[in-house]
Amino acid sequence: MMGKYSLLLAAVTLTLLLANSAGKTVVFFPPPLTSYFIYHTNIAGALARMGHDVYLCVPHYLISKNLVKDKDVKILEYGEQLGDITGKAMKNTNMMEKFWAGDSLHPASTMFMASAEFGRVTVEILSDKVLVEKIRRLKPDLLVVDSIPFNMNMIVLPYLLDVPYALVGTLHDVVLSKVPYSPATPTMLVKSHKDRMSFFNRVQHFFWYVAQINFDLYYDSSCVSKFAPHKPYRSINELAANAEVFIIELDHILDYPRPTLPNTKLIGGSSPSLAKPLTGELLKFVNESKNGIIVMTFGGTVVNLPPHFTSKMASAFKQLDLRVVWRVNMTSPDPKQILTSTWIPQNDLLGHEKTKLFVSHCGKNGQYEALYHGVPILCMPIFGDQYYNAERVADKELGLYADMRTASTEQLAAMLKEIIYQKKYTENMKRASSLYRELYKDPKQEAAYWLDHVMKYGGDYMRSAGQQMPWYQLYVLDVIAFLLTVLLAALFIIYFIIKQSLKCCGFQQKKVKAKNE
Ligand SMILES: *[C@@H]1O[C@H](CO)[C@@H](O)[C@H](O)[C@H]1NC(C)=O
Ligand SMILES: *[C@@H]1O[C@H](CO)[C@@H](O)[C@H](O)[C@H]1NC(C)=O
Repeated sequence: MMGKYSLLLAAVTLTLLLANSAGKTVVFFPPPLTSYFIYHTNIAGALARMGHDVYLCVPHYLISKNLVKDKDVKILEYGEQLGDITGKAMKNTNMMEKFWAGDSLHPASTMFMASAEFGRVTVEILSDKVLVEKIRRLKPDLLVVDSIPFNMNMIVLPYLLDVPYALVGTLHDVVLSKVPYSPATPTMLVKSHKDRMSFFNRVQHFFWYVAQINFDLYYDSSCVSKFAPHKPYRSINELAANAEVFIIELDHILDYPRPTLPNTKLIGGSSPSLAKPLTGELLKFVNESKNGIIVMTFGGTVVNLPPHFTSKMASAFKQLDLRVVWRVNMTSPDPKQILTSTWIPQNDLLGHEKTKLFVSHCGKNGQYEALYHGVPILCMPIFGDQYYNAERVADKELGLYADMRTASTEQLAAMLKEIIYQKKYTENMKRASSLYRELYKDPKQEAAYWLDHVMKYGGDYMRSAGQQMPWYQLYVLDVIAFLLTVLLAALFIIYFIIKQSLKCCGFQQKKVKAKNE
C-alpha cells in the first residue's frame, strides 16, 4: 500500500518537475480591441495548457468584459488612463456616421484611420514606464504581438526589452513578412480583391506595393529610436522581418492561395468550436421553427442600427417562412418570427442544424464560424477587412454581398431567397466546410505548437535569407541596375566604334573628293 502511494507521489513530482522545466514565460500583447482579443486569448490558453507561464496584457476598459475565460492565463492589467479605447476610436474616426453617409471604408482607408488612432495609443502604451518595467521583471522568453499594421509600433517593446518575439494576426502582410511577391496577385489592402486583376488594377496595386515597401504608411519607425535609444536603429519593417514566426489566422479555402515562406504558419480561424446545445427561450424559439432559422449579427460593436435599415430588413424577413435570431438593440417588430437580443451565442446558433443562413458584417471570427459549421452568408460589410471578406464570399459563391445602405427591401428579400433556395450556396459552403475541417484541425493548438517550438529551437532555421535583405537585393534591383549599366556601356562602346570608323571613312572620302577637285 505504502509502496503504491510513494510511487504515485514520485510520478506526480516527476510530472510537476517536467512541467516546470517546460514552463517558459510568454507575454501576449494584443491590440486593445475585443475582436483581436478573441484569438490572442484562445492561443494564450492553449499555450498555458502546454505548461507555460502565460500572461495576457489587458487594457483596463476591457477587464470587466471577462474576455479571458482561461484560468491558466494570467492577466496583466494596464492603461487605466487610456479609457474606453474602442468608444474613443469610433467617436474620433466617426466611422459609423461616415458609413451611413455613404463613405467607402475599404481596408486601406480604414487602416489609415485606425493607424492615426492606434498610432497614438501604442505610443502611450510604450511610454508607460511602470508597465514596461513590469514586463521586463517577468523576464519573458517570448513576446507575442499582433501583426495588424496599425498596431506595429508595439514591436518596439520586445526590441527594447531584448526578448525574442512572434507575430500573430489576421492579415498576411507580404511587406512585413517580406514574401517574394508579385503585385499581380491581390492583397487585402488594395481595392480590387478578385483573384485575377485587370491591367489597371495591377498598375494601381504596383504603386501601392512600392509605397508600402518604401514608406511607413501605417506605423512609425521613429518609435524605435524614441523608445529604444540604447539599441541600434532598425525600421519597423526590419524588426518585423526578424520575428521568430508569423502565425496568421487564414487559410486557402476562404482566402485565395498565395505564396508564403516557411516561417509563416496559416492556422485557419481559432474562434469556431463544436456547438453547445441552446438553452431556455432561444432553444424553444429555434426548436419551434418549421423551416429553419436565419442568424443575423453585425458583431458586438454594431448593435445600434438606424430604423430606416432595420425596418427594411424586417420587411425582407417577412417575405420568408423562416424564423430569425437577430443581434440588435431594439424590440422585435414581430416576436413570432424575429427574436432580438443584444447578445447571442453566435457559434452555437451557427452550429444548430436548423440554421440555413447567416446575415453578417463579415468580420473574420464570424466568417470562420460560418465556414466551420457550413452556413452560407449574406455579407453586409461596414468597414475594414469586411469588404475584402465579403467580396471573397461572393466570388467563391459561398453567399452574396449586399450594400445595406442602398439595397431595397425587394433586393434584400431576393438575395435571402436566392441563398436559401438555390442549393449551390449551401452546397459550396458545406464542401468548403468539410475541406476546412479536414485540413485545419485545431487552429489554437497549432498556433501554440509553433510558439512552443520556436521557444525550443528558435526561428532562425526557418527564416529565408530574403527576409534579411534590403529590398533592392530581394528584388535583384542591384543586378538589374548592373546589367543595364553593362548593356549601356556596351552600346556606347559599339556606338563609339561605329562613329569613329564612319568618321574615319567620311574623312577619307572627303579627302578623295578634295583631291579630285
Ligand atoms: C425540441 O425538439 C425536439 C425534437 O425535435 C424535442 O425532443 C425537444 O423536447 C424540443 N425541446 C424543446 C425545449 O422544445
Ligand atoms: C440600446 O439603446 C438604448 C436606447 O436606444 C440605449 O440607451 C442603450 O445604451 C443601448 N444599448 C447598447 C448596448 O448599445
